[in-house]
Amino acid sequence: MARHQVIVAGCGEMSNAWFDYAAQRDDVSIVGLVDIFEENAVKMAEKRGLKVPVFNDISVALQSVDANLVFDVTIPSSHKAVVTAAMEAGCHVFGEKPMAESLEDAREIVKVSERTGKRYSVMQNRRYLRQIRAFRDYLHTGAIGKVGSVHADFFLGPRFGGFRDVMDSPLIVDMAIHTFDQARFITGADPVSVYCHEYNPEGSWYQGNASAICIFEMSDGSVFSYRGSWSAIGLPTSWEADWRVIGNKGSARWDGTHMPISEQLKEQAGDAFFHEVVQTEVEASWNGREGHVGCLDEMFAALEEGRPAETDSLDNIHSVAMVFGAVESAKTGKKVYL
Ligand SMILES: NC(=O)c1ccc[n+]([C@@H]2O[C@H](COP(=O)([O-])OP(=O)(O)OC[C@H]3O[C@@H](n4cnc5c(N)ncnc54)[C@H](O)[C@@H]3O)[C@@H](O)[C@H]2O)c1
Repeated sequence: MARHQVIVAGCGEMSNAWFDYAAQRDDVSIVGLVDIFEENAVKMAEKRGLKVPVFNDISVALQSVDANLVFDVTIPSSHKAVVTAAMEAGCHVFGEKPMAESLEDAREIVKVSERTGKRYSVMQNRRYLRQIRAFRDYLHTGAIGKVGSVHADFFLGPRFGGFRDVMDSPLIVDMAIHTFDQARFITGADPVSVYCHEYNPEGSWYQGNASAICIFEMSDGSVFSYRGSWSAIGLPTSWEADWRVIGNKGSARWDGTHMPISEQLKEQAGDAFFHEVVQTEVEASWNGREGHVGCLDEMFAALEEGRPAETDSLDNIHSVAMVFGAVESAKTGKKVYL
């Protein structure tokens, strides 16, 4: 019997990446599929050649098959119910971001994880990239000195249709969780406060606010600014955002597509009007697998080593706090302490 007996909850678009991953591992066996629209689970079972029971309710699935791990690939508003039911039934959970649709729900999930001793690891695939790891490692060498400012721009115009079109805050809740989590990853700092202005400019095809500007104060004293839109037509940034980090000895940039670059003070620089700098092309040293696969590799490794994964809910709650702090600030018009 394979070591990991997995129920997959949510058989929509994103689950394909999870099924592909599971098929690569001989220690994973899929033992059941769940979708509130059972026909989605039936179709997925056929597509994947899986001869396993299908259900329309996670609780029934948990009672009916012998599983020790649940992949939660349902929509954000279903995560809390699916994840808590799974942990209460004795399963670990690996799930898609965001943890939940509110900070209270995310905190309740963390409590259930602590009480049951079951791990809930969250998909933050955008940490598992050679370039962002090189960027983070480079900043931590101190080459640009103490980091004071971190800026991220995110401008894209995707037409998803589906749940994102009707969410109140699609950009902040469904997407910015990645960029906020990346900011924590790059700096190693946690958020202290946020001020956010959220809006939905003319021409946006989303019902909720698909543009936002946020200012975060971080625990290392730096400021992280985020400017984003999901209804920006033309001149797109990368999905990883376009980053500029400013330290007291230089600046580093990562456009999310190419290797990061930096300019830092020349040793024995003179006192010209503009500082004399040298340019560095940052080099990659991390050789893990990238994206979803890399994040899932870490989740499984952590489970096997009996430690929380890098993106365990105990850590991810800080990224979630950035999201819901921003939403609260946008609603109240006030700076929110996290
Ligand atoms: N990490 C990433 O880069 C990335 C990219 C896209 C989507 N996602 C995330 O993946 C998740 C799924 O997104 P998607 O695009 O596949 O959505 P989707 O709408 O295509 O699929 C979701 C599926 O979940 C099912 N579902 C909803 N509630 C359920 C419940 N309570 N129990 C069982 N099934 C349920 C739906 O019927 C649907 O089939 C979301 O959380 C989304 O934010 C992550």
